[in-house]
Amino acid sequence: MANQDDQFKKVISHAKEYGYVFQSSEIYDGLSAVYDYGQNGVELKNNIRNYWWKAMVQMHENIVGIDAAIFMHPTTWKASGHVDAFNDPLIDNKDSKKRYRADVLIEDYVAKLDAKIEKEIKKASKRFGETFDEEQFVTTNPRVLGYKEKGTLALKRLAQALDNEELDKVKALIEELEIVCPVSGSKNWTDVKQFNLMFGTKLGASADSAMDLYLRPETAQGIFVNFLNVQKTGRMKIPFGIAQTGKAFRNEIVARQFIFRMREFEQMEMQFFIKPGTQKHWYEYWKKERLSWHNSLGLGESNFRFHDHEKLAHYADAACDIEFKFPFGFKELEGIHSRTDFDLSQHEKYTGKKLQYFDPEESKSYVPYVLETSIGLDRMFLAVFSNSLQEEELENGSRRVVLKLPAVLAPTKAAVLPLVKKDGLPEIAHKIVEDLKWEFNVQYDEKDAVGRRYRRQDAAGTPFCITIDHDTLADQTVTIRHRDSMKQQRVPISELKSLIKEQIDVKNWLMKMRS
Ligand code: GAP
Repeated sequence: MANQDDQFKKVISHAKEYGYVFQSSEIYDGLSAVYDYGQNGVELKNNIRNYWWKAMVQMHENIVGIDAAIFMHPTTWKASGHVDAFNDPLIDNKDSKKRYRADVLIEDYVAKLDAKIEKEIKKASKRFGETFDEEQFVTTNPRVLGYKEKGTLALKRLAQALDNEELDKVKALIEELEIVCPVSGSKNWTDVKQFNLMFGTKLGASADSAMDLYLRPETAQGIFVNFLNVQKTGRMKIPFGIAQTGKAFRNEIVARQFIFRMREFEQMEMQFFIKPGTQKHWYEYWKKERLSWHNSLGLGESNFRFHDHEKLAHYADAACDIEFKFPFGFKELEGIHSRTDFDLSQHEKYTGKKLQYFDPEESKSYVPYVLETSIGLDRMFLAVFSNSLQEEELENGSRRVVLKLPAVLAPTKAAVLPLVKKDGLPEIAHKIVEDLKWEFNVQYDEKDAVGRRYRRQDAAGTPFCITIDHDTLADQTVTIRHRDSMKQQRVPISELKSLIKEQIDVKNWLMKMRS
C-alpha cells in the first residue's frame, strides 16, 4: 500500500464494503464524527469488548463489573471538574474560517519533526547498511538532535502555557513556529479560546422544571459514585477494581480520522482502588499488564509504545498513553492514569457523604487512591482493523486483499462452502453449519466459484473456510483452508469443531499474556 493517506482511505472503504463501519445517517449525507457499526462490525466490536472483559473482570478475583447509566446527576460533573476544566483550546483561521484545536496544531507540527527524524534514520540506514547503529545515529546526528530539541521545547512550552492557562502564549507559540492553516495556508489566526466538550441535554417535560443534564464524557464517574455500593455489597477489600464498558460523548472539534475521534464512542474503563502511597507500584503494574494484553493479540510489539503525559489532567499525579501505530502514525489508544483520591474526595465534598474505606490491617479509614486504565473500544477496533488489512502478492503473481484479524476476534470464524450446488454437497454443508453454529459464528456460502468465495472470505476476515467436495460423500472428510497461510488440510468432519475451537479459544490467546 502506497502511502499513509492511501492506506487509511483503503481502511475506511474496506470497512464500509465489508459491513464493518458505516457513516451515521448516510442517506441524509451523514453526521460528522458519528458512525454506525454494520453486521460484521458489531461482531468484531462485541468480540473486542468480551476479550477485554474476560481479561479485566473475569480473570481477576478482585475486579468486578458494573453498568452505570449514561445520565448522571449534573453535580457529578461539577465535582469531577468537567464543568470547569474539560475544555479544549480552540483557534480559528480568519481566512478559511476553519476552527482547530490549538494544542493539536502544535502536536501536528511536532509530529512532522518526528517524521523528518524517521526520514533521516532511513536515509542513514540505507547509506551505512549493516554497520548502521541507530542508537548512536539519533544521539549524535546534529540534524536529528536539532529536530528533537525543537519538538521537545515546543511541547514543553505548550504544556506550561496550558497548565498556567496562558492562552495568549499558546497563540504566540503557534505564530513563532509559523504554523499555517492546512486549508488556507495562511497564518492569520484569532486568539485562542477555551471550549467545553460536554453535550448538554434536558431531563423533564416542561421547560421551567426541566433539569440541565450532560451526556457523560467518560464512564469513570459512574464507577466513582458507585464505589461504596460495590465495596459494601461485594465485600471488596483494597486493592480492588470496578470495571465498565459503555458509551461516552464529547463535542470534539477536531472530528476527523474516521472512528479514531468520534462524538459518540465507547470506553472500556477500570478504576483500581488502592491504599494511598502505593500508586507508583500499581501504575507500573497496570502499564505492564495492559501492554501485555495488547501484545497477546499479535498486532506487532513494535506497533505499541508508551508516551508519558507532559501536561497532567486536573486529577492525575502520573499518566501515560499506550500509543499504537495507526495508518496516520503513532497515536493514543489507551490511557493509564494515577488519579490520586481526587474524584472520591470531590464527590465527598459535593455530597457531604463519606466515601471511605475502613482498612482492617491499618485499623483506620481513608479515601482510597485510584489507578485507572481507560481504552476506547472504537479506537481498539480501528487498531485491530487497520493492522489486519493487508494486500499480498501471491506466488502466481496475482494479488489478494486479506483481513488478517486475530482469529479470536474475527466476526465469522468459519465459512462452509459446498464445492457445487448439487450432488448432495449443500445438504452436508448445511448439516455442518447446524452443528458448528452452537459453538461459534459460521456462514454458509454457495455462490460463485470456490476461489472467489475464498477471496471474499479473506477480505471479510474469516479465518477458516471449510470446503465440501465429492470425496466428502465417500469418506466424511472436508478441506479446511487457513486464511493467513492459505494452506489446505484434509480433516474428518468430526474433528472440525475441536480444530477450530483450539484456534479461537479466548484462553489460548489470553495465556500469551503470561508467556
Ligand atoms: N476516564 C479517563 C478518560 O476518559 P481519556 O484519555 O480522555 O481519559 C480514554 O479517554 C480513552 O478513550 C482514550 O485513550 C481513547 O482511546 C478513548 N477516546 C477518548 N476520546 C475519544 C473520542 N472522541 N473518540 C474515540 N475514542 C476516544
